[in-house]
Amino acid sequence: MSLLQPSCDGPALIVCSTCRWSAQEREDEQGVRGGARMFEALTDAARDDNRLELLKIEQMPCLFNCSQHCSVHLRGPGKIGYVLGKFEPTSEAARAILDYAAAWLESDEGVVPYRQWPQGVKGHFIVRVPPPGMTVVS
Ligand code: FES
Repeated sequence: MSLLQPSCDGPALIVCSTCRWSAQEREDEQGVRGGARMFEALTDAARDDNRLELLKIEQMPCLFNCSQHCSVHLRGPGKIGYVLGKFEPTSEAARAILDYAAAWLESDEGVVPYRQWPQGVKGHFIVRVPPPGMTVVS
């Protein structure tokens, strides 16, 4: 069995669906993981946001950033991608991530000036990831 499955090769926000609900609890009172709640919050918040028409929101189990839950990965061709974490699965966190994603979509190479960062993503960047076929020079 392959671990990989086809996905979109355009701009995408990949959400870890299995992240913990909290430091104490893996799931909420309905038995749903925090990552699955984060995916719901992100898809709900993105629904009527026409800045995000090009952004596909997908989920997968475990981005290997488990200790810094909840985690997401923003990626796209020709743009520096990012893994972000340490989010609570809330609509406020989803809004901040999507506002950042909208600015990232507008950027040439995935570099959003710090003055444009929503407050809610500051302190949540884990790693930057060069796009396929490229590295970053500075
Ligand atoms: S369970 Fe979310 S990164 Fe591992």
